[in-house]
Amino acid sequence: MTTVEFRTPDALAEAERWTAHNYHPLPVVVAEAEGAWVTDVDGRRYLDMLAGYSALNFGHRHPDLVAAAHAQLDRLTLTSRAFVHDQFATFCRSLAELCGKDLVLPMNTGAEAVETAIKVARKWGYQVKGVPDGQAEIIVADGNFHGRTTTIVSFSTDPEARADFGPYTPGFVVVPYGDAEALAAAITPNTVAVLVEPIQGEGGVLIPAAGYFTRVREVCTEQNVLLIADEIQSGLGRTGKTFAIEHEGVVPDMYVLGKALGGGIVPVSAVAANRDVLGVLKPGEHGSTFGGNALACAVGSAVLDLLGTGEFQDRSARLGAHLQAGLEGLIGKGLVAVRCRGLWAGVDIDPALMTGRQACERLAERGVLAKDTHGSTIRLAPPLVVTEADLDHAVAQLAAVLAS
Ligand SMILES: Cc1ncc(COP(=O)(O)O)c(C=O)c1O
Repeated sequence: MTTVEFRTPDALAEAERWTAHNYHPLPVVVAEAEGAWVTDVDGRRYLDMLAGYSALNFGHRHPDLVAAAHAQLDRLTLTSRAFVHDQFATFCRSLAELCGKDLVLPMNTGAEAVETAIKVARKWGYQVKGVPDGQAEIIVADGNFHGRTTTIVSFSTDPEARADFGPYTPGFVVVPYGDAEALAAAITPNTVAVLVEPIQGEGGVLIPAAGYFTRVREVCTEQNVLLIADEIQSGLGRTGKTFAIEHEGVVPDMYVLGKALGGGIVPVSAVAANRDVLGVLKPGEHGSTFGGNALACAVGSAVLDLLGTGEFQDRSARLGAHLQAGLEGLIGKGLVAVRCRGLWAGVDIDPALMTGRQACERLAERGVLAKDTHGSTIRLAPPLVVTEADLDHAVAQLAAVLAS
């Protein structure tokens, strides 16, 4: 069937008619995009202050990434892992080097990478740490978001994400986020890993107090427990460093990456760890048909080249400070709190004024796209190619929404 061209109301109604209602999108139908800006089917332009939940860190259609994708499309797209293709080693080596780890295992979506980390940690627990069969425990944080599979929602503390999807996978222990002593107290001889987001994105860009990860690292090392950092949303330049956990100078045993790794073009995720951890997997024990495909590796390698320059991390730090100053100026003028790290902000609107959803709807009417999280909190995560003038525009529109 050929694509029918719709204007916004028809396109929204048609999408609503033919899809499961597992999302509640803003009423915007995007047709084109470049850099930090998108254009809808009616020709209206919007500043993208969400960047695909950080999947578009390098902006829409970054020329280097599009060129890499085009070139690869003309040569080879997929072999499956039954054979090796010529893009595989370059991507895996570059990613391992970026992470400072021996090995990587590429997958597609973030949730698959988290599942991979869980499987590897359990196997490591049985084979290396000596945990009795079937007893492995993984500690996670209250308010976590690691994806949508049945195992991952088993340890979600968000009733919306979890309810009616049981029976749940056992083996997870939930502790308060940001409380290293509670985490230390929850460790038993059967604990194989701590799985944690360096900053909780879905939670509302919650940044734990300085010292938290240093202490978590210490405890994990003392107790022979793997520290797994889910950097799917926080990593790859978003916070002004390559990894958010770097702000504390902490190195986890395993990185879990996704989103921006595919440059907003293809789904690419991965875990990275040293040989003593990732080496526990043997042929046949884990995999994915599309994981590490040639197109994904070509785009992923181009992403790693961009990250290798350090330019995006620097932009994020510099422009993030600018965004933070602008947003903090609105505290007391409709905002009650702002949490910022690099180009990533959690913005708490006075709940007496409006919900986060209402704020995002009004921002969209003013040509700025953002996303609410819980209650009256909204999240801002523009592409790292955004300009200072763009950020000023976004803050001005937010000020207008708060004043309306
Ligand atoms: C921290 C974190 N982990 C995992 C995921 C899941 O990634 P995906 O939606 O690609 O499965 C997300 C997605 O928002 C995330 O933010």
